[in-house]
Amino acid sequence: MGYQTLYDRSMQDPSAFWAEAAGLIDWDRPWDQVLDDSNPPFYRWFKGGRLNTCYNAVDRHVKAGRGDQPAIIHDSPVTDSKTVITYAELQDQVARFAGVLKSLGVEKGDRVIIYMPMVPEALVAMLGCARIGAIHSVVFGGFSAHELATRIDDAKPRVMVAGSCGIETNRIVHYKPLLDSAIDQAAHKPEHCVILQRPQELGVLIEGRDLSWSEAMADAEPADCVPVEATDPLYILYTSGTTGQPKGVVRDNGGHAVALAWSMRHIYNVEPGEVFWAASDVGWVVGHSYIVYAPLLAGCTTIVYEGKPVGTPDAGAFWRVIQEHQVSVLFTAPTAFRAIKREDPRAEHLKRYDLGRFRSLFLAGERCDPDTLEWAQRTLGVPVIDHWWQTETGWAIAANCLGIEPLPVKPGSPTRAVPGYDVRVLDDEGEPVNPGDIGRILIKLPMPPGCLQTLWGNDARFVQSYLSTQPGYYLTGDAGYMDEDGYIFVMSRIDDIINVAGHRLSTGGMEAALASHPDVAECAVIGAADQLKGELPVGLVVLKSGVERDKKMLIKELVDLVRDQIGPVAAFKMVAIVDRLPKTRSGKILRGTMKAIADGKNYNLPATIDDPAILDEIQKALEAIGYAKH
Ligand code: COA
Ligand code: AMP
Repeated sequence: MGYQTLYDRSMQDPSAFWAEAAGLIDWDRPWDQVLDDSNPPFYRWFKGGRLNTCYNAVDRHVKAGRGDQPAIIHDSPVTDSKTVITYAELQDQVARFAGVLKSLGVEKGDRVIIYMPMVPEALVAMLGCARIGAIHSVVFGGFSAHELATRIDDAKPRVMVAGSCGIETNRIVHYKPLLDSAIDQAAHKPEHCVILQRPQELGVLIEGRDLSWSEAMADAEPADCVPVEATDPLYILYTSGTTGQPKGVVRDNGGHAVALAWSMRHIYNVEPGEVFWAASDVGWVVGHSYIVYAPLLAGCTTIVYEGKPVGTPDAGAFWRVIQEHQVSVLFTAPTAFRAIKREDPRAEHLKRYDLGRFRSLFLAGERCDPDTLEWAQRTLGVPVIDHWWQTETGWAIAANCLGIEPLPVKPGSPTRAVPGYDVRVLDDEGEPVNPGDIGRILIKLPMPPGCLQTLWGNDARFVQSYLSTQPGYYLTGDAGYMDEDGYIFVMSRIDDIINVAGHRLSTGGMEAALASHPDVAECAVIGAADQLKGELPVGLVVLKSGVERDKKMLIKELVDLVRDQIGPVAAFKMVAIVDRLPKTRSGKILRGTMKAIADGKNYNLPATIDDPAILDEIQKALEAIGYAKH
C-alpha cells in the first residue's frame, strides 16, 4: 500500500488503523475501546487494554527464541570497552533490578528518577521500572544539580538511580556529588539512591540511604512483569518550556508501545534481528524512543554509544561503530554530521571502513540544513531522511516513511505528515494559510497513539500550553510552511526555545539564571546562528546603576552561573554588557530583532519600537563579541 492510501486510511478511520497496528504488541487483556474521545481535549488510546511494556520489549523475544541475540551492545570509546548483552541476559538483569526496586518499597505508580551516563544499566533501570509499573523519569547527565532538584520536586521520586560518574571526552562528570547536591537543594527527599559504581570514580555512599548497584543486584529476588492499564503512565520526561520550570511530558504504556513498534517497520523499515543505532543520549526523547523502547519492542539490537562523533578518537568513530556492529540504520542529529564534516570534509576516514549492511541515515532534533543533508547523501550513498518530531509527540510527526514508500526528497523538508498526524499550518487567527506561506504548525486532535497524555500533575498547564491557542488543535510551537505537494518545512520556534547541538533549551531558563546575579538589572538571551551547533545562546545584560565591575570577571561569573543553574549542555559562553535593551512601547523585549542583528540578517524595524537608536548600540555590542556580521 502506498503512502497516500495509508495516510488517508489513518485519517478516515483512526480506530481501525491503530487497532490493526496494535497487533504488533502482546496484550494481557484486549482493549474495550481503541480511541476514547469522551473527554476532549484529553484523548486516550486502547482504553481497558492491559499489557506490560517491559514484557513486550524483552521477555516475549526470549520466549520467541531470540534469547541469544544481542539486545544491547555498549560501545564506549571513552572507557575503551565493549559489552554485549543478549535478550536472555537482559531479561535476567531487568527482572533482578525490578526486584531491587520492589525491595526498596517501589510500587506501581511510584516515580523513580534515573540520572545516568550512557551505560546499559540506564536501560536496565528504565525497563525495571516498566516491569513493575513504576514511572521512570530520566534526567540528562549534562544538566546541573539545580535542574535535577527541580525535577525531583516535581516528580517526587521514591528512589533515585544514578551512576557514580560520567565520562566526557576530556573530563569526568561527577554525578554522585551532583546527585547529593540536588537532593540537598530539593524539598522532596527520595528514600533511597541506587548507585552504579564506575571504576573511573567511585561515589561516596551515604549510609542508610544509598546502595551499590552491584551489591543490590547480587542479592535481588527477580520480579515478574506486572500488567498495567494501556493508559497508565510509563514515564515522565522533562523538557524545556517557555519558562524556567520544565514540563513533565507524560507518556502512556499502550499507545506508546503500538506507535513505536509501528514506526520501526513503517518509518525506519527495520526488521527484527537487525542492528539499529540512535546516536543520542537516553536522557533525551530520541534516546527513550529509539535507543531503548522502539528497537527492543521490535526485537532489534540497539547500540548504546558512550562517545562523540568526533574526538573519540576521531571523525571516523561513527563509521567504525557501523562496520563493527553491522548497523543497518543510524539515527542522529544534524549537528553530529556537521561536526564530522568540519573535521573531515572529504570523509577520508570512511575509506578505512566497509559499511556493508548500512542502509539509511535518519536525522532529527533540529532543522537539517540542505548542505549537511547533501554532504551526508554524497558521502554515504544511502537515503538520508530528515524527520521532524518533539519530546511531546515521542515519535515522528513528519518523515519520509521508508517502510511504506520512499517519496522524493526535498532538502530542507522532513517530507510529509506521518500517518496518524493531521498537520495544519494556520495564521494567528486560526485560518489556514496558502501553500508556501509561513504560519504556526498545529496538529488537529486527536493526535495518534504515543503522544503526550498530559503534563505531570498539571492538566491545566497542558491545556494552556498546547491546546488553548486554537481549540481542537495541538500547538507544536514550531513555525513553517507546507508546499503544494504537502511537504512540510519547519523553519523556527514561535517561543523562546532554542536548539543547541540538537539539545532543546529554554532561553527563559537562562535569563532567570542571569537575573539572579546581584549586579544584573535586566537581561535577554537569544539563540544566535552557529555553524556547528545550529544555535548558541548569547546573553545581553544590563547592569544595575552604579555597578562598577571588571567586565571580564563579571562575564565569567555570569557564564559560571548559567553552567551551575542549567548545566554545561547549555553551552552558554557569550555575554554582551549593554546599557539598554530594545523594547516595544509596552515594554516587551525585542528578542527576535536582536537575533536578526546577531545573525547579520536584514530586519524590519518593529513599528512599536520604543527607541530605535538602541539597535545601533546592540549591533556594536554584538559585533564586539564576534556576531552581527553581514
Ligand atoms: N553529561 C555531562 N556533561 C555533558 C553531557 C553529559 N551527558 N553531554 C554533554 N555534556 C557537556 C559537554 O562535556 C560540554 O561541556 P564543556 O562545556 O565543559 O565542554 C557541554 O556539555 C556541551 O556539550 P555538547 O553540546 O555535546 O558539545 P561538545 O562540544 O562536547 O560536542 C558535538 C560537540 C557536536 C560533538 C556534540 O554536540 C554532539 O555530538 N552532538 C550531537 C547531538 C546529539 O546527539 N543530540 C541529541 C539529540 S538527537
Ligand atoms: P525535542 O523536544 O528536544 O525533540 O525538540 C523538538 C524541537 O526540535 C521541535 O519542536 C523543532 O523545533 C526542532 N526539530 C526537531 N526535529 C526537527 C527537524 N527535522 N527539522 C526542524 N526542526 C526540528
